[in-house]
Amino acid sequence: MRTTFRLLWSLTVFAIGCSRAAFATGEKPLMKAVVAHEYGAPEVLKFEEVPPPKPQDDEALVRVIASGVNPADPLTLSGKYAREWGTNLPLIPGYEIAGIIEKTGVKFTSLKPGDAVYGYPTFGGGWAEYVVVKEREVAPKPKSLSFAEAAAVPMGALTAWQALVDVAQLHAGQTILIHGGSGGVGSFAIQIAKVRGARVIATASTANQDLLRQLGADVAIDYTKQKFEEIAKDVDCVLDPVGKDTLARSYAVLKKGGIILALVGQPDPEELKKHEIRAAGIWVKPNPKDLSEIAQLIDAGKIKPTVTQIRPLSEAIAAEQQAETHHTRGKVVLRIADEPKG
Ligand SMILES: NC(=O)c1ccc[n+]([C@@H]2O[C@H](COP(=O)([O-])OP(=O)(O)OC[C@H]3O[C@@H](n4cnc5c(N)ncnc54)[C@H](OP(=O)(O)O)[C@@H]3O)[C@@H](O)[C@H]2O)c1
Repeated sequence: MRTTFRLLWSLTVFAIGCSRAAFATGEKPLMKAVVAHEYGAPEVLKFEEVPPPKPQDDEALVRVIASGVNPADPLTLSGKYAREWGTNLPLIPGYEIAGIIEKTGVKFTSLKPGDAVYGYPTFGGGWAEYVVVKEREVAPKPKSLSFAEAAAVPMGALTAWQALVDVAQLHAGQTILIHGGSGGVGSFAIQIAKVRGARVIATASTANQDLLRQLGADVAIDYTKQKFEEIAKDVDCVLDPVGKDTLARSYAVLKKGGIILALVGQPDPEELKKHEIRAAGIWVKPNPKDLSEIAQLIDAGKIKPTVTQIRPLSEAIAAEQQAETHHTRGKVVLRIADEPKG
């Protein structure tokens, strides 16, 4: 009788242990995910249950609470840059995540299971219940933000930071013209430029003039009514996330020696020479040090994300369609799981 009881008890403990281990490591047999099996328009996305990714030794498995939406998502889905970006099918979109570390590989030592993190997985994958990340892709989440707010930060803030701080070394006394100041990148660029002590001129359409001012722009230009080159003159720096005609008209507003930071499009060498200005093509990279400095500024109340919509994962196609318009105000975030309590 005692032996039978012991055996039953051991089996029960083993079963509980297994289910805990499964919960603790996130190794659910299947996870909810938004998956593309073919390149194309947002409508090719499917809602599926797929096996969660398995972290390698240098990776961590993150339980995703929220994931940001970027113009890079529809661009990736189009397949246009599949070879350059290494985005093979099937693919799960989502370059911005906030979540909780579930499990770490033996060589992933900077963070531990249970830590709240935010970051930029290089190859996407955030529109799912779990994603794997490398140490260089994540940092502790800003404590003052919810997970949904934190998911609105990584790509836009990293791009603005790397362009303004690392490349342009923007500083007090300088003036910057920020195009698209109401978007995912521009909304952080305005705030980072102000933290650096620069004077900010920013552009957006009529509906977003209020936002430019709220973010700290000294001069807000409505590009649908005013020519920015008639207002911005002799600036030290231009941040251009718009390209084409906007890029072509931006050379003349820079002072000699000034710099144009191009996020899309290739600056024309002839124009650079003619105006005696410089240019840098920006290519954002995940960076935990940058993410930590950005988190510190957020927790100090100096910069903040502009979340304009939090949509359920089931609305991923509509969110992707919105990203394609290039007229998003602030950031759209997809909610993958409820905000953890406490
Ligand atoms: N190279 C890189 O590493 C890198 C990194 C991140 C993003 N990007 C690229 O940079 C671009 C912007 O990204 P994002 O996340 O900020 O996009 P977003 O969230 O869609 O924002 C774009 C913003 O641009 C404004 N806009 C549109 N046309 C404009 C014009 N003619 N003049 C001035 N403003 C205009 C829009 O405001 P209105 O609605 O008021 O027009 C919108 O707020 C995208 O093409 C993205 O792919 C590149």
